[in-house]
Amino acid sequence: MKAVKYSEYGGADVLESVEVPKPHPGPGQVRIAVRAVGVNPIDTKQFSGQFRDFMPVDFPAGVGKEAAGIIDEVGKGVSGVSIGDAVFGLGADTLAEYAILDSWTPMSDNMPFEVAGGLAVAAETALRSLEGVGVKNLETLLVSGAAGGVGSLVIQLALHRGVTVIGTATEPKHDYLRDLGAIPTTYGEGLTERVKALANNGVDAALDLAGAGDIPEFIEIVGKPSRVLSISDFSAPEFGAQISTQPMDNPERALAEAARLYSDGELKLHLQEVFPFDKARDAFTLSSKGHVTGKLVISIKSA
Ligand SMILES: NC(=O)c1ccc[n+]([C@@H]2O[C@H](COP(=O)([O-])OP(=O)(O)OC[C@H]3O[C@@H](n4cnc5c(N)ncnc54)[C@H](OP(=O)(O)O)[C@@H]3O)[C@@H](O)[C@H]2O)c1
Repeated sequence: MKAVKYSEYGGADVLESVEVPKPHPGPGQVRIAVRAVGVNPIDTKQFSGQFRDFMPVDFPAGVGKEAAGIIDEVGKGVSGVSIGDAVFGLGADTLAEYAILDSWTPMSDNMPFEVAGGLAVAAETALRSLEGVGVKNLETLLVSGAAGGVGSLVIQLALHRGVTVIGTATEPKHDYLRDLGAIPTTYGEGLTERVKALANNGVDAALDLAGAGDIPEFIEIVGKPSRVLSISDFSAPEFGAQISTQPMDNPERALAEAARLYSDGELKLHLQEVFPFDKARDAFTLSSKGHVTGKLVISIKSA
C-alpha cells in the first residue's frame, strides 16, 4: 500500500509517498481502508523536529493521527463492529491507504468521509478541554484560536451544554464564529477590555488553544488559574493553569457525541480545503502557517 513517511526532520518536503506492507490490527484495534485523513498541527510539530526532545520518532516515521474509512480487518477482542462498517477515529500513521485505529465510532449516515476524517482529534480534544475546566450550563467560556479545528468543536460542544462562548480570531473569521454560535473578538492588545465589555456576567473559564502566550491574561480575566487550561502552551502550569496533552481514557465517548450531534444536524465541520493524497505536502504546508478555519483534510480515493 501507499503511505506517507519521512526519514529526516524538516519541512513538508521531507514527506514522501512510499510503498509499505499493510499493517495488521492488534488486540482491540481495527484496520480501515482509509478514505479521508484530517491534517493536524501535531503532525507538523513532529515531522519538523519541534517535538524531537520529548516525542522522538523512529525513522521512517508515519504521519496522521485520525482517519475515516471502511473496516477491513478486526483485531482480537473487538466487538460491536464488522468488516464493511464505515467508521472514523484515532490512530497512528493514518495517512496511508490502510491504517490501524485504536478508538473509533460508526459514521452517521449523513456524514461524508471527508468530514468524518477530520472530526476525531478535534472532538476528543474539545471534549477533554471542556471537561478539564468543568464548564456548566449558563457559564461563559473564553477560547483562543476559536476558528481552528479544535476551536470549532469546542464552540459547538460548549453551546450544547448551555455555555456562552467568546472566541478569539482575526476579524475576517468573525462571521464564521458567529455562525457557529460564538461571540467573536480579535486577539492581541486590549483583549481583557474587549472581553469584559462582551461578558456581562464575567468569564468563568478559559481555554488557550492557540498557545500564543495568553495564559497570564486569561488568568486575570477568569480570576482563577485552575479554570484556565491550555492544550498548546507548556508554560501553563508555571502560572497555576492546567495543560492537557494526553487523550482521554475513553475517546469513543467524544467521537460518539460528535457523530450523534452531526446526525441530528446540531454539529458541523467546515472543511477549508480537501487535498488529494498526492498533494499531502501542500496540506501540511498550509496547516503550518497556523491560520486554518475549520479543518484541512486529505482524501484517499485509491484504497
Ligand atoms: N494538547 C493536545 O492534546 C492537542 C490536541 C489537538 C491540538 N493541539 C494543539 O492545539 C493548537 C490548535 O489546534 P487546531 O487543530 O485547532 O489548529 P488549527 O486548526 O491550525 O487552528 C489554529 C487557529 O489558531 C488561530 N491563531 C493563530 N495565531 C493566533 C494567535 N496569536 N492568537 C489566537 N489565535 C491564533 C488561527 O486563527 P486566525 O487565522 O484568526 O489567527 C487558527 O484558526 C495547535 O497548536 C495544536 O498542536 C493540542
